[in-house]
Amino acid sequence: MTAAGDLGPSDFGAVPPGVVSLEDWAPLARARLAPEAHAYLAGHACDGVTARRNRDAFLAAEIVPRLLLDQDPAPAATLFGRSIAAPILVAPVAHQGLFHPLAERATAMAASAVDTILVASTLSTLSLEAIAEAADGGTQWFQLYVQPDRGFTDALVARAEAAGYAALVITVDAPVFGVRNVEQRAGFRLPAPLAPANLRDAPADGGDGSLAALLARRPTWSDVAHIVARTRLPVLLKGILDVEDAARAIDLGAAGVIVSNHGGRVLDLAPAALDRLAPIRDRLGDRPTILLDGGVRRGGDVHVALSRGADAVMVGRPLIEALAVGGPLGVAHALRTLIDEWAITLALAGPPRRSDARDQ
Ligand SMILES: Cc1cc2nc3c(=O)[nH]c(=O)nc-3n(C[C@H](O)[C@H](O)[C@H](O)COP(=O)(O)O)c2cc1C
Repeated sequence: MTAAGDLGPSDFGAVPPGVVSLEDWAPLARARLAPEAHAYLAGHACDGVTARRNRDAFLAAEIVPRLLLDQDPAPAATLFGRSIAAPILVAPVAHQGLFHPLAERATAMAASAVDTILVASTLSTLSLEAIAEAADGGTQWFQLYVQPDRGFTDALVARAEAAGYAALVITVDAPVFGVRNVEQRAGFRLPAPLAPANLRDAPADGGDGSLAALLARRPTWSDVAHIVARTRLPVLLKGILDVEDAARAIDLGAAGVIVSNHGGRVLDLAPAALDRLAPIRDRLGDRPTILLDGGVRRGGDVHVALSRGADAVMVGRPLIEALAVGGPLGVAHALRTLIDEWAITLALAGPPRRSDARDQ
């Protein structure tokens, strides 16, 4: 039986007429979701300065087309030896049960159907094993939030390895919650039945939830070194914006970094992720894998990110808006839309060249 074998036609969702770009899902999701869930999805830290910067950086970018090329530029990409349809991945997004009854099962099916990679969050509604099963042969990466208990963290990594995850993404930019006024105003609280399945057996951490308690158990470079030394998976650090942090990650044995400010959800006033990409690529050289997320909404954005040194990008909010409105089909449609735009951009502009970025 395939992963979708027990689903009926109505479970797959639908694409409303008139949805032709990623941004088209946003107003539909706002209308569909309860205000608290929408605040969690669409919100940002403090005043949303960084979230806006992410998008504005792309809007200010330029693509100078190269014309009359002999070669057909290929939209496909290869990451850690695996070929995918395009350098466009599904970013880790927690608690997807808030947005659709199939939760991460829907995003896993969609990513698999369009031949790209789902990055599954530690805080997924469904267990990492259930997500891998739903992907039915597709490729997943596991996003790790380092847990206060080292043994439990190690067990999570071992589970991800056993379930066939192909890479480990350690998110390092959220040791404490950001100031989430949008969520606070809407009164968002995670409903108890949606508690993350992966953490069900986590030992009680004894913390009182205070800032001091959270800080006392925040991950450090020694946690990263410990995990890199133990796992056979390639490790990427997500949330890197500083060139020296990027270099230190690679020195410790990470295979790459994800240049990201968490979609502007953690530290407001952080720079646009796109603006940090070229300096980090220049510092790391050609070899390490570099991904970018934050504000990617168009195929042209993918071109811009690759011309500034990314190997691939990840997309967060719009795919989950598509999930909320259109279910698995909605996510697949949104991914397909972006992949098609990327292919059209390649046909119009030629392949991204690093030299373009240095001119800017
Ligand atoms: C609702 C929501 C939940 C998120 N949960 C996680 C998470 O569990 N782990 C993580 O590393 N990043 C998480 N992120 C950040 C995304 O992985 C990604 O960095 C960000 O959404 C990219 O920006 P974009 O939404 O503009 O595409 C979350 C983002 C959103 C919108």
